[in-house]
Amino acid sequence: MLHPLRLLAVLPLSLSLVAVSAPRERVRALPKRDAEPPALINISKKPNTVEVNITASVTTLSLVPGVNSEVFAYNGHVPGPTLDVREGDHVIVHFHNHLSEPTTVHWHGIHLPFESDGSPFYPIKPGESHDYEFTIRPGTAGTYWYHPHPDRRTGFAIGKGLFGAIVVHAADDPLPATISERLLVLSDNRFLQDGSIDFPDAASASGGIDEENGREGPVLFVNGHVMPTLSIRRGEVQRWRIINASAGRIYRIALAGHTMLHIGSDGGLFETPREVKELLLTTGERVEVLIRGTDSAGTKALLQDLPYDRYAPQTRPKDWKKTLDLLTLETTDEASVAPIAIPAHLRTVPPLDTTKATAVRTVVFGQGMINGKTMDMARVDVSTRVGATEIWEIENVVGMDHPFHLHGFQFQVLDRDGVAEPYRSWKDMLNIPKHSTARIIVRYDDYPGKWMFHCHILDHEDHGMMGVLEVRQ
Ligand code: C2O
Ligand code: CU
Ligand code: CU
Repeated sequence: MLHPLRLLAVLPLSLSLVAVSAPRERVRALPKRDAEPPALINISKKPNTVEVNITASVTTLSLVPGVNSEVFAYNGHVPGPTLDVREGDHVIVHFHNHLSEPTTVHWHGIHLPFESDGSPFYPIKPGESHDYEFTIRPGTAGTYWYHPHPDRRTGFAIGKGLFGAIVVHAADDPLPATISERLLVLSDNRFLQDGSIDFPDAASASGGIDEENGREGPVLFVNGHVMPTLSIRRGEVQRWRIINASAGRIYRIALAGHTMLHIGSDGGLFETPREVKELLLTTGERVEVLIRGTDSAGTKALLQDLPYDRYAPQTRPKDWKKTLDLLTLETTDEASVAPIAIPAHLRTVPPLDTTKATAVRTVVFGQGMINGKTMDMARVDVSTRVGATEIWEIENVVGMDHPFHLHGFQFQVLDRDGVAEPYRSWKDMLNIPKHSTARIIVRYDDYPGKWMFHCHILDHEDHGMMGVLEVRQ
């Protein structure tokens, strides 16, 4: 045990952040400063209950300045409104499908009963409504997201605009309450001249490339805005929750001139913060980072997506080496914030016990296939029991990255290409780079049912790169 005082040791964050050397510019008023998606409104008066309405419908929005696009939206917004909950909350979502096609709402990363998972087993027909109900389990505080999961149409539905954030707050968060939080939902898209969202015919050349690479677009959005400006006070520490809601883009994120304190991933906080210069954020993945404002007002830093080669040589985009800008972080001239102490220990992440593992599963990612097969909802690919602990060995045998996702259960990474994972965390997304293998460990605590596991490049998922895990009672 550490002496309690040691727990409040100030981490390097307050010292090591390099001030941006760019000359000061006049502060310009930008319209989309700090804009985040609205929160879903809780209509319940009961304690520990969050009851919300979500409607998916077709609407017209101006996503890129100057043109209108026909989109699919949750409650009229892209991204959809944020589901803001606490550990222990009982959540009731009255969902209404006003689209002209079947859909579902999948609560990506949340540990919940199978019937509420919004998997393709439970489609909601056009015009129908459905109540999703689940309880947020203790220990799950973190950043998650929701999106449709209809059979073979997930990429299309998310590309049209259906995705939203879920923030689960801890009963006792270890970080100082004075730290302000920011939510950054990342997405990309591609448009035709008339503003319509570009979904090329599958038989066309660009349709074929989308299918192979996973659809990407040249326009990058943060919370639905192109290049927004975020503000930070001098010396202020902010907690950023970042969600990759893109269909195929893997972000290599860096805040120019700054280091970041990486404090959490998919299933919440780590045991200890780690100082990083950049982070790889695969599709569907989330991170939590602490950012510190510079000491001089008016400085600006760009949050960027650095080049990352996830592609097979045959379909690698010509401009893959281009660095893309996501947002500007601007230090304001408001009063500076006194340095705060970041706890050196955030929480305990108990290791899953490898000696308890009763099975080792092999998952081989080929191009578009898992273990040589494409998805069949009538087939069970892996069968197990509630309470079992298993090791999954996920091998990517092809020349492009495939991000692994498991529904319903958070796992821990044991090793990547034989190298032990240097720190423990709860995950539901794991990038499996080309020609590499990772081992994870998972325990099926409860919730019998049929759970999906799949590649989270949505075009791959929709074309069958998915399997069914049945957890029996
Ligand atoms: Cu985020 Cu099966 O999905
Ligand atoms: Cu999921
Ligand atoms: Cu894939």
